[in-house]
Amino acid sequence: MSDMERYGKILYGGLRALGDELGKEEWRDARYFILLDENTFQQCLAMLVTSVGPLEEAEFIEVPAGEECKSLEVAAQVWQTLLESGADTGSVIVNLGGGCVCDLGGYVAAGFKRGIRHINVPTTLLAMVDASIGGKTAINFGGIKNSIGHFHQASLICIEPGFLDTLPREEFVNGQMEMVKTAAVTNAALYQTLVDDSRSSVFNSQLKEVARIKNRIVRNDPYDHGIRHILNFGHTFGHAIEAYRHLPHGIAVGIGMRVAMYLSVKKLGLAEEVYDAYSQWLNGQLLTTHYPLPTFNLKDIEQMLPLMHQDKKNADGELRCVLLQEPGAAVIDITVSDNEVRDAFLQLAKG
Ligand SMILES: NC(=O)c1ccc[n+]([C@@H]2O[C@H](COP(=O)([O-])OP(=O)(O)OC[C@H]3O[C@@H](n4cnc5c(N)ncnc54)[C@H](O)[C@@H]3O)[C@@H](O)[C@H]2O)c1
Ligand SMILES: [Zn+2]
Repeated sequence: MSDMERYGKILYGGLRALGDELGKEEWRDARYFILLDENTFQQCLAMLVTSVGPLEEAEFIEVPAGEECKSLEVAAQVWQTLLESGADTGSVIVNLGGGCVCDLGGYVAAGFKRGIRHINVPTTLLAMVDASIGGKTAINFGGIKNSIGHFHQASLICIEPGFLDTLPREEFVNGQMEMVKTAAVTNAALYQTLVDDSRSSVFNSQLKEVARIKNRIVRNDPYDHGIRHILNFGHTFGHAIEAYRHLPHGIAVGIGMRVAMYLSVKKLGLAEEVYDAYSQWLNGQLLTTHYPLPTFNLKDIEQMLPLMHQDKKNADGELRCVLLQEPGAAVIDITVSDNEVRDAFLQLAKG
């Protein structure tokens, strides 16, 4: 079995499936350390350890919630705790949390004793469909997000939608935006159901479908040299919006996707109705959060353009981004001029 086949196995059957999996021979001598933050300690730990027998005796290590935990200092504290507890190469880190805990825990696992196994148990929607899948681990360093990290595949990823019951609305919308993104660049039918159909009865199957798609893409391009780039749809603009307006990542990406769709209409002939329908859906979602659709004047856009140009995807000083020919059909590396970007951002003022 190759590493890619063995690692990154997704358990769609939730905690029950995780319990079954950890009963297998390869986990017999494992010693488990559950990494969590104060929110997942309160909301998720009891459900995990009461549902998954082998984790009943696990030790747990708490780190600060959110981006604060993705630091070298916190990583060092976790390594220290592991050493003091006598952790060895057979130890396993179980990340119980959102993308921040998963990124930190994967990073810690990649470095400890030259690499130990870790299991992701994502508890936010964003982590279930995105951050827990694909082996990217990272901390923030030198004031730059995700600047230090490794590729280190989780051995298992357990998708348990039951954790979402306690997730704050805004965090939910953050994840929804990344779901829509992944569907928009890969699967027209799924994209349509996501923007048309908010019935909760189909939500869990949509969630799992998006996780499957992300998994398929990262398996085809584990080190992010090619096809994985399509997952950056909306991100060149989203990252700039996130930094400039201090918006949560997913919400900023949702707005960035609207900018990218407008450019797609202009440059690749995406149907205007797709852009209109998306804009309407986006507005509806934002209304359920504390973040109304922002608008940008030319002065704002001037300040944001350098942020877009420093995006790592660009070469030769030109802005290159992922655009859509139609839902499900993305094209990478489309060159976009500053003037086209100005025009697309100004459209946001039309509501
Ligand atoms: N590695 C990757 O491929 C990848 C991909 C996308 C994003 N990321 C990273 O993911 C991070 C963002 O992840 P996130 O959006 O999950 O945020 P997060 O991890 O900060 O979680 C958001 C908040 O929700 C709380 N929370 C988590 N689960 C909960 C639950 N079930 N009930 C109540 N509260 C809960 C957390 O404590 C936190 O306060 C970023 O650092 C980003 O860089 C990584
Ligand atoms: Zn993203």
